[in-house]
Amino acid sequence: MQAPIDGLLFYSERLPWGTSVGTAVREDLYLTPFTDADNWTLYHGDCLDALAELPDSSVNLIATDPPYFRIKNLPWDRQWDKPTEYLAWLDRVAAEWQRVLAPNGSLYCFASPRMAARVECLLGERFCVLNRIRWMKEAGWHNKTKKDALRSFLSPWEECIFAEHPGADNMAKGEAGYATKCDELRGFIFEPLRAYLDGEKERAGFTTRRVAEAFQQRTGSRTVTGMAGHWFLLVQWTLPTADNYAWLRDLFNRNGGEYLRREYEDLRREYEDLRRPFAVTADVPYTDVWDFPTVRPYPGKHPCEKPLEMMEHIVRASSREGDTVLDCFMGSGVTGEAAIRNGRKFVGVEMAEEWCKAAEERIMWTPPIGESVV
Ligand SMILES: C[S@@+](CC[C@H](N)C(=O)[O-])C[C@H]1O[C@@H](n2cnc3c(N)ncnc32)[C@H](O)[C@@H]1O
Repeated sequence: MQAPIDGLLFYSERLPWGTSVGTAVREDLYLTPFTDADNWTLYHGDCLDALAELPDSSVNLIATDPPYFRIKNLPWDRQWDKPTEYLAWLDRVAAEWQRVLAPNGSLYCFASPRMAARVECLLGERFCVLNRIRWMKEAGWHNKTKKDALRSFLSPWEECIFAEHPGADNMAKGEAGYATKCDELRGFIFEPLRAYLDGEKERAGFTTRRVAEAFQQRTGSRTVTGMAGHWFLLVQWTLPTADNYAWLRDLFNRNGGEYLRREYEDLRREYEDLRRPFAVTADVPYTDVWDFPTVRPYPGKHPCEKPLEMMEHIVRASSREGDTVLDCFMGSGVTGEAAIRNGRKFVGVEMAEEWCKAAEERIMWTPPIGESVV
């Protein structure tokens, strides 16, 4: 007989709001977790209440599947009468995502074919949209649709909008409002590296202009504007290449000194660690069209359950081990299983108690890959 993972506390019996039990529940929380384990916390309640509990920049990956808006004949998908009401609500949720997502974090948000374009525009106001992933579904309810009665083409897909904070990966260069959006980003991701290069430049008695002029001589460029400025500035910052770093070190130490002592490889590693993770290789689905098989019907299946394989793909592509993954519409808890299996932490929110229980059960028996639940 298997036993639950160490450190797990169950709160399936709902506790009054604000009640604190044991040491695992933080005193300042208003919304008591449904489950508070070592590496995962589930909240039963409205996502806006639960999101309010999460500190700023505390989540590395948001992978979530909000209600689609009146697609499913279920109360949670019929909370709004008009698309505008639904979008206004989703925008409040997105504002919280913007707050809790770490500056180098990633967002994956599913949307129905009918709402996808509007959801993408809405998210585009707060995030930099990187891909609109199309999940092609060979099997599914859409096959039962009476094609002749549709009066339009069938949409056998769901969209998943993949986004980051504006300017997080120096990706949005040239877009209207780029500089403002970067300024809005809470803390510039590469600031430790920029500050190191800029600090060494100051210590060596150089100005950015002097470096730029020396670089112009080196490259033979006709203008003094060039890459050099971007090594020290906040906007459109870039890490120098290994060659340019070696040249910069020679320049600063020309008259003796101990400037830029850090090895380039060390800077490069720090750069990779600070950067938004994206670990996609040629061996996994690397285009924005996905064909993961839908979940086959089984007793207790969530009506919108996403395939584990697809959620693991998202988790592995866009987070690192030990990172925190958030799903604030967790349903069956598949995102939690994907996160825990891959050595990430998980925060899940679900308004239906039955699905909270199902998710708790599912994640509780999920050992990280390579470990077994004793
Ligand atoms: C589209 S389903 C997600 C299914 C999930 N991706 C899975 O694979 O099982 C949306 C879920 O969000 C929940 N939900 C709807 N409104 C919510 C809200 N305001 N706060 C928290 N959960 C909510 C619903 O109960 C439903 O289980």
